[in-house]
Amino acid sequence: MTAFSLGSVLEMTYLWIKAGHVIFVIFWIAALFILPRYYVYHQECAPGSAEEKRWIDRERKLRAIIMTPSMILVWIFGITLATIGHWWAAGWLGTKLLIVLGLSGYHGYMIGYGKKLARGERPLSGTALRLMNEVPGIATALIVVLVIVKPF
Ligand code: HEM
Repeated sequence: MTAFSLGSVLEMTYLWIKAGHVIFVIFWIAALFILPRYYVYHQECAPGSAEEKRWIDRERKLRAIIMTPSMILVWIFGITLATIGHWWAAGWLGTKLLIVLGLSGYHGYMIGYGKKLARGERPLSGTALRLMNEVPGIATALIVVLVIVKPF
């Protein structure tokens, strides 16, 4: 005889994983919000200057320590939740996954852009970078509505 049922252990596990999922969602999206802003400041300083080197270093650390590990953990926790919660057939999850795939592509593009900047290339204007900065905000709003309201 145990003081808890297997069902309640699974429910608690689900909630802990969901908490982990949301924590790393916040870290990931915070990094996605700030990185293009770093790139704007980076592009405004003189090529080869000591200030530029500091931006290259800040960007690299943000990507390697926070952004990429958080994205991986969001995916792992999200896939685990969908499996334990039997959500795979739900319409909201399919739509959410399409948006998250787009966001992961944006993540990859921003990593590539940072590497170009570090090589001395500056392909986008500051205005274009500021506009692109809207992408994670719009994606987050759509995803949160899908996951909370579950309209379909
Ligand atoms: C990477 C792929 C992802 C998968 C497979 C996934 C899957 C899931 C699943 C199955 C749940 C549990 C829903 C419930 O218990 O009602 C969940 C919760 C949640 N997800 Fe994701 N997710 C992913 C990425 C994201 C992203 C990128 C965001 C935000 C930008 C996000 C935000 C949330 C939030 C806020 C919750 C909590 C909702 C609640 O407690 O009602 N997820 N996710």
